[in-house]
Amino acid sequence: MSSNAAKSPQKTIEELRTQIREHDYRYHVLDKPQITDREYDALFAKLQELEAANPDLVTADSPTRRVGGAPLEEFEKIAHRQPMLSLQNSYSVEDIDAFEERARKELKDLAPEVFDFFCEPKFDGLAIELVYENAVLSKAITRGDGAVGEDVTSNVRTIPSVPLNLQNGRLAFDAKVFEVRGEIVMLKEDFRILNEAQQEAGDTPFANPRNAAAGSIRQLDPQIAKSRPLRMFTYAPGVIEVGKGKPFVSQDEFETACGSLGLPTVGVAPSGESFEKFEKRIDSWLTAFKKKPTSSPSTMGLARICRGADEAKRYYFFIQEIRTRLPFDIDGIVIKVNSYRLQDDLGFVSRSPRWATAAKFPPEQGETVIEKIEVQVGRTGALTPVAVMKPVKVGGVTITNATLHNQDEIDRKDIRIGDSVVIQRAGDVIPEVVRVILEKRSANSKPFKIPTKCPVCREKAERGEDEVVLRCTNPICGAVLKGSLKHFVARRAMNIEGLGDKLIDAFVDSELVKRPSDLYRLTADKILSLERQGEKSAANLIESISASKKTTLARVIFALGIRHVGETTAKVLAKYFGTFDALLDANEETLLQVPDIGEKMAGVLAEALRGEYIRRELKDLVKLGVEIEAAKIVSSSGILGGKKYVITGTLPMGRDEVKDLIEANGGVVLSGVSKKTDFLLAGEEAGSKLQKASDLGVAILDWDGFQKQLKP
Ligand code: IVH
Repeated sequence: MSSNAAKSPQKTIEELRTQIREHDYRYHVLDKPQITDREYDALFAKLQELEAANPDLVTADSPTRRVGGAPLEEFEKIAHRQPMLSLQNSYSVEDIDAFEERARKELKDLAPEVFDFFCEPKFDGLAIELVYENAVLSKAITRGDGAVGEDVTSNVRTIPSVPLNLQNGRLAFDAKVFEVRGEIVMLKEDFRILNEAQQEAGDTPFANPRNAAAGSIRQLDPQIAKSRPLRMFTYAPGVIEVGKGKPFVSQDEFETACGSLGLPTVGVAPSGESFEKFEKRIDSWLTAFKKKPTSSPSTMGLARICRGADEAKRYYFFIQEIRTRLPFDIDGIVIKVNSYRLQDDLGFVSRSPRWATAAKFPPEQGETVIEKIEVQVGRTGALTPVAVMKPVKVGGVTITNATLHNQDEIDRKDIRIGDSVVIQRAGDVIPEVVRVILEKRSANSKPFKIPTKCPVCREKAERGEDEVVLRCTNPICGAVLKGSLKHFVARRAMNIEGLGDKLIDAFVDSELVKRPSDLYRLTADKILSLERQGEKSAANLIESISASKKTTLARVIFALGIRHVGETTAKVLAKYFGTFDALLDANEETLLQVPDIGEKMAGVLAEALRGEYIRRELKDLVKLGVEIEAAKIVSSSGILGGKKYVITGTLPMGRDEVKDLIEANGGVVLSGVSKKTDFLLAGEEAGSKLQKASDLGVAILDWDGFQKQLKP
């Protein structure tokens, strides 16, 4: 074998870990991977193999140990060695002058001519403390009440950008204890994707990235935390116990050091950079990020030393201006006296440091009145309360509706009809009720309870096990049916063209359609019996319904709208089982064998498959002439063997056809290039994806190369 043969397993394991940590750092912090995903996976697999053979050599900080252990019963409470304090908030720029003045007065003769302020965004996530002992991550603790927090180590360990071991040898001093504080956040783009998946799965979406991040960290099962795309930004040191000397003399030195230790930050701007240059550089970073939203924010260099209050104010206005373009939510900036010596001299007043202040942005909030609360019923039967409000402009957008999510949320915020409320655009998109202005509440208002009857069909609505939402229990509820039909006919499902929402509503209201399969029982005459239907459009609709009969197994599985089964899962199931009959035979145990199907999904799916509804619908669909093409069962030995493809540029065939071709041959088609992509299939005039693929070392295929793969 290789030269490793001569080395002890211990030595090889240590070397592999060092290499993997280095690559993690290059990937997550520097955004400059040096090896391909495949090479990385090979290193990782090698390490896993060696650790499996030498269990006594496994250590907690090994890159293979990001998730370990079973779900927790509860989080343990841990006292912070040094309390996690809060910041004084200021809400106007004048407060920045006042902050400087106070510091100057406090320091008297010690005050410098001009203060160097270290300025950076104020992240809108949840505060965390990471404790490294002898460079190994030993604890991650939430802020809690500042004195005592919760031990969320097993969840934080799953965050890929949090180093389990501070880059070997990069720590210039010998730190027995090295604590850092920072914020756990979810990037806006990751939040959007997560919420789409939540919705697709019939789960309640999160209100905003902060809630999503906080909710994920509070999961007792680290597997769930792992599935959530979390990040962390480091912004302050905690207790640092060094062998000798003081490790850092200033905040910029600290954050710069974090950068090279693999601890993510927003990056420190080059020292001496003019403000104009800073603005230009950030602007182009953000423009590039828009094209390639996967760049690591640590490469941004957004934190900056500002000379005096005047420059700090300029920083404030600039960050406010670019706020919505940033990859993460912020609610202001934090201004810190850069010198740690001056920080020590300034000290603390009650629970906040005198050396720092948070200059908050005016929130994108508004005040309005809740006129009524409507309860909407989705295709999964979920009852969602929606506040209908007097229209109000917030951040340039008129808002009338805000989702209240569920009863728990209504109770927690005590939201009632007629209440004056503060609303905001959360995560830049979904409006949310922040709080009720209690002083304005009328004396006779009553708490709002979501009716336990479905507002559409009047049948009972119930809370499922472990669920916060009420669901209508009537499988033939009009609202559920309308939602199910809209899903059933969608382009990525049965693809029935020309059947819009209004027409579906009319079909359901007139009772022409009671189940999805009834669509295939429609005749032109029946359609014409509805108001405002012309012969031509009726004929067209019949035509497109008929055209949809030739379809694939994955489409039918997806179209039937089984809870938690989105398009991707439907494809996985189709490939695994091949025919609907085989799928119907599956039980929980068999479903668990399917790649990417977890316990929750297997349970729900097994139940749905046992149920009457799917079986009957399927039987009727087939009887009514729907031809379901059996899927080719794909094992990893298929021609394209599960390899991941991204398509770009113009190809001799249409995009969708190429996609089908790849999938038919056992490949997987993804939309964005990442380290995980195996091949970029690039046609004419390929753009940024080509650049990205070559940056990441992803193999690039032209059409001929792809053809060769199909005929080996
Ligand atoms: S420094 C002594 N820097 O703000 C406190 N805090 O009000 C030093 N926060 O709970 C904190 N971004 O979660 C600092 N860049 C930043 C921050 C930041 C957000 C939060 C932090 C803390 C709260 C303090």
